[in-house]
Amino acid sequence: MKIVNTVEELRSIIKEWRKAGETIGLVPTMGYLHEGHQSLIKKAVEENTKVVVSVFVNPIQFGPTEDLATYPRDLDRDAKLCEETGASVVFHPEPEEMYYDDFCTYVDMDGLTKGLCGKTRPTHFRGVCTVVSKLFNITTPDKAYFGQKDAQQLAVIRRMVRDLNFPLEIVGCPIIREEDGLAKSSRNTYLNPEERQAALVLHRGLAAGEELVRGGEKSVSKVTSAIREIIENEPLAKIDYVEIVSWDGLDEISEIDGEVLCAIAVYIGKTRLIDNFIV
Ligand code: PAJ
Repeated sequence: MKIVNTVEELRSIIKEWRKAGETIGLVPTMGYLHEGHQSLIKKAVEENTKVVVSVFVNPIQFGPTEDLATYPRDLDRDAKLCEETGASVVFHPEPEEMYYDDFCTYVDMDGLTKGLCGKTRPTHFRGVCTVVSKLFNITTPDKAYFGQKDAQQLAVIRRMVRDLNFPLEIVGCPIIREEDGLAKSSRNTYLNPEERQAALVLHRGLAAGEELVRGGEKSVSKVTSAIREIIENEPLAKIDYVEIVSWDGLDEISEIDGEVLCAIAVYIGKTRLIDNFIV
C-alpha cells in the first residue's frame, strides 16, 4: 500500500489503474480511523479492485469555534489499518495541496443543508461538498462510500452527485457501534470516563424512539418528546436538536409516513455527538 501526498502523484496512479481496467472505490475520511471507517473500507475492497482512502482533516468544513486544531490525528495507525483492510492507496494531502492561498471556488447547496446540523454549522456542508467534489475529481472513483452515521452528509452527497451529474455511485453503509451502543466516532476520544458513560443516553433515547415508531406511532412530536425526555434526564447532556424529517429530502414533517430519518445532536460536556436511525 502506498501513501500519496500530492494530487499529481495520485492522478498518475489512477491513470495506470484505468489503463489496466481496474475499478476504483473511494473512502473519504478525516482519519483517526476506527471500525466505522473500516467497515466502509472493507465494503469498498469487496466491490472494487483498487481502493483509495483519503485521510484529510478538511479545514473549510470546520467553523471558527470548532475543533479543527484539536481534531485527533495519527497517520501511522491509520495507514496500518488501511493496509490491513486491503486499501491500495492512502491519499494524505497537506491543506496547501488542496487549497491554494487564493482558493475561492465552492460547491454549495440549498435545502438539505439548512436544517439539522446546518442550523448550528452554517458553512459545514459547503466545506464537505467542496472537498468531496475535489476528491471525486481527483480520484474519479466508480463508487464512493459514506456512513449512515452522518446521515445528513450522506443525503447531501447523494443529492450533490445527482444534481451535478458526477459519474459515480454513492454507497451508504450502516452505523457501527461500540458494544454498549455508542456510535463509533473519532470525537469519542474527547470524552472522559464519566462523559463516556453519559454518552450512552443518545442511543438509549433513539432506541426508545425507534420502538415507538415501529410500534405504529405516527406523531413526530410525540416521538421527539419521548426522546428529549430521556436525554434531558442525563445531567451531562445538552440537546442541540432532536428531529424527524423525510429521508429523501430531509423535509420537516409532522406525521411519520414513508422513510424517515430521526437525527439527534447532543453535547456531552463540551463534545458534540450525533446519532440517528432511519425507518
Ligand atoms: P469522518 O468523520 O472521518 O468520517 C468518514 C466516513 O466514515 C463518513 O462517511 C462517516 O459517515 C463514516 N463513519 C464515521 N463513523 C462511522 C460509524 N460509526 N459507522 C459507520 N460509518 C461511520 O465524514 C467525514 O469524515 C468528512 O466530513 C468527509 C466526508 C471525509 C469530508 O471531509
